[in-house]
Amino acid sequence: MTRAVEDDREERKENELATELHIEIRELVKERYAEVARSANDCCADSCCATETNLYTLQEVEGLPTEAVMASAGCGNPTAIGALNSGETVVDFGSGGGIDCFLAARAVGPDGRVIGVDMTADMVSLARANAVKLGVTNVEFHLSEMESTPIRAASVDVIISNCVINLSPDKDAVFREAFRILKPGGRVYISDMLLVNELPEEAKADMSNWVSCLGGAEPVEVYLGRMRAAGFDHVRITSDTPWEGSDRWASYAHSMNVLAHKPG
Ligand SMILES: C[S@@+](CC[C@H](N)C(=O)[O-])C[C@H]1O[C@@H](n2cnc3c(N)ncnc32)[C@H](O)[C@@H]1O
Repeated sequence: MTRAVEDDREERKENELATELHIEIRELVKERYAEVARSANDCCADSCCATETNLYTLQEVEGLPTEAVMASAGCGNPTAIGALNSGETVVDFGSGGGIDCFLAARAVGPDGRVIGVDMTADMVSLARANAVKLGVTNVEFHLSEMESTPIRAASVDVIISNCVINLSPDKDAVFREAFRILKPGGRVYISDMLLVNELPEEAKADMSNWVSCLGGAEPVEVYLGRMRAAGFDHVRITSDTPWEGSDRWASYAHSMNVLAHKPG
């Protein structure tokens, strides 16, 4: 066997392993967030839920369906990162129970449009039911992976996302897709988990850390570098908070807000 053939085989094997790992991660993430969606529903059916959250102001959550607040699994408040103007089109990558879509819908008003995208069927059903409860007509939810959406190129003013991109094993594809669907001059408002210190290998290998938004978190410069490589400019961190979810990992993972623009 020649060296070239050997290299080719090795590369194909590595690609196959990466694909298998990506599929495994996606399935675990879907399972986990289907459970979150179901427990938001079950809990509210038992009327046991509190709607307390430290990510949003009381004024923001007032009037939202309890199930939307209960399913909230974000690490920030992306609609508060920058302006959302009347009449704009907003897409939420990984919209979950819909909380950020509903806040965006208020901001863009009846002439605007909000599209939530989520790959977990139970989450999309929950978000659609929440939209009906709220009586909003300018929000829709699609079952889709954010790496490849059915949304038309250059049709979106703002992309928001809350603690989701860390869950993707193919972050370059996420940022390429965001760039594709944004209009020239469009903005990206992301809240996400990013690393300020490299995770130990055993933490990365533990799949339960992936679904809890740690295992797939990347160092700040790697993440921002991927955004710049996709074509974004003015890429910057606008807030940085140590992760309160775990004492053990607080010195590794922070919840950050990231702002970027597609060149106009
Ligand atoms: C941590 S929850 C956050 C949900 C919501 N953004 C919020 O703040 O409550 C992550 C959500 O992203 C969705 N998700 C994860 N990976 C995704 C992907 N590649 N494409 C679309 N949705 C994804 C999950 O199904 C889940 O609903």
